[in-house]
Amino acid sequence: MGRSTAVSGVRPTGRQHLGNYFGAVANFVRMQEEYDSYFFVADLHSLTTHPKPEDLHANTRQILIEYLACGLDPDKCTLYVQSDLPQIPQLYLIFNMLAYMGELERSATFKDKVRTQPDNVNAGLLTYPVLMAVDILIHRAAKVPVGKDQEQHLEMTRDFAGRFNHLYQTDFFPLPEAFSYGEGLVKIPGLDGKGKMSKSNGDASCIYLDDEAEVIRKKIMKAVSDSGPASPGAPKSDAVSNLFDLMKAVSSEQTLQYFEDSYLQGNIRYGDMKKQLAEDMIAFTDPIRERIRALHADPAAVSKALRTGKEKAWDSAEYTLREVRHILGLRPF
Ligand code: TRP
Repeated sequence: MGRSTAVSGVRPTGRQHLGNYFGAVANFVRMQEEYDSYFFVADLHSLTTHPKPEDLHANTRQILIEYLACGLDPDKCTLYVQSDLPQIPQLYLIFNMLAYMGELERSATFKDKVRTQPDNVNAGLLTYPVLMAVDILIHRAAKVPVGKDQEQHLEMTRDFAGRFNHLYQTDFFPLPEAFSYGEGLVKIPGLDGKGKMSKSNGDASCIYLDDEAEVIRKKIMKAVSDSGPASPGAPKSDAVSNLFDLMKAVSSEQTLQYFEDSYLQGNIRYGDMKKQLAEDMIAFTDPIRERIRALHADPAAVSKALRTGKEKAWDSAEYTLREVRHILGLRPF
């Protein structure tokens, strides 16, 4: 039996932090061993916000380098840039005929954009879910490793695929489902004592994969904690439980246990805990940082990896488009 196909995309928003790493990249690295995996940078999607051309190019490059540095292997998965495949905009045009205005307008992300950026409600925003569906359907993928925030887009993808199948009396497109490693999910909070690690909470609350050791030390020493357990065994504050979650992600079990014990005994010193956390964080990210640096210095290696990815993605996309054209009646004379 063949392996099932998985697809995921990431918008080129810049450097990746530890939350992106554990939330996405680490799972992709694992999936490439088990699935016929396609991972791509969604550069066309980001055109909805009209990024500066130099920024778009640099950010796309940065993400590719970081994905490679984290262990995505062009021989094990298909890593490519969305805009390298002309088949995607072609299939997008076709699926736009299957998407209804009403359902696009009801999408939560669209309504959100209408509210937050009323001056730039372009048609690309409205059809964002169509383009995303096409990213997935172009490889006829069954699994899509994405977070909860993308669930509605996936549901729309299933609607479009099902509609196509029904209208043209075929079962050509599988209906894709969200994928996650469940048990393996690591929670990565930010350093601000609040929610999860996210760029929108500021750079100081994020550990980026390419942050230098000294920067990591400074950020962690400034991380929000509290004035110590109210009494031995008192429940942890949010800020402190965040520090423990971070430690769980990067430190050894003994280290974690040591600080859990001192917390329980009520004699924990957050300064010591943060110092340890910073060193473990540095050790964890060090090999990645090193590879990021090496890849930045070796553009030929990046181009080579991308060439392989583009070829594999191209073949898969070309097959789908050819079949779809045939199904639709767009046949050669
Ligand atoms: N919309 C996704 C996000 O904002 C990115 C994305 C684009 C994507 N196309 C995709 C994710 C296809 C999975 C599959 O994160």
